[in-house]
Amino acid sequence: MKREVRQIKEKVNAILDNYQRDRGLLVSILQDIQVEYNYLPKDVLIENSKGLDVALSQVYSVATFFKAFSLKPRGRHLVNVCLGTACHVRGAARVLETIERELGIKPGETTEDFKYTLETVNCVGACALGPIVIVDGEYSGQTKTDKVKPLLENYT
Ligand code: FES
Repeated sequence: MKREVRQIKEKVNAILDNYQRDRGLLVSILQDIQVEYNYLPKDVLIENSKGLDVALSQVYSVATFFKAFSLKPRGRHLVNVCLGTACHVRGAARVLETIERELGIKPGETTEDFKYTLETVNCVGACALGPIVIVDGEYSGQTKTDKVKPLLENYT
């Protein structure tokens, strides 16, 4: 067995054992896999499907249902820009444009060095503090375009 395949099996089995191979906990299992790999690689999902004895199509339907899961490799840092109405009227579009220019990517894309992935969301419940930018789960409120560069530089 190739080393890489063996490593995948070992990691997946360790995660599945943590959940007593309970198929009802598939979402939590996929969350752990994503923490381990930063996304949900196809080979890992296949191994997960075998280990849980559930159809691969079922694993994919859960993986694609939740926006938090990614089937594409993602950067080490996830940058989310809120484009909800309240953030929009406070200039979120300009903030997003600035981030796009700084990183050289559009929403849904990842920088070539796999440092950043850029995504957008629609309202994260902090409207009064808009525009909101969330990096790795940390909220930055009242984000102005001139705050973008220093904000991103905090994440190396
Ligand atoms: S619209 Fe951005 S937090 Fe609500």
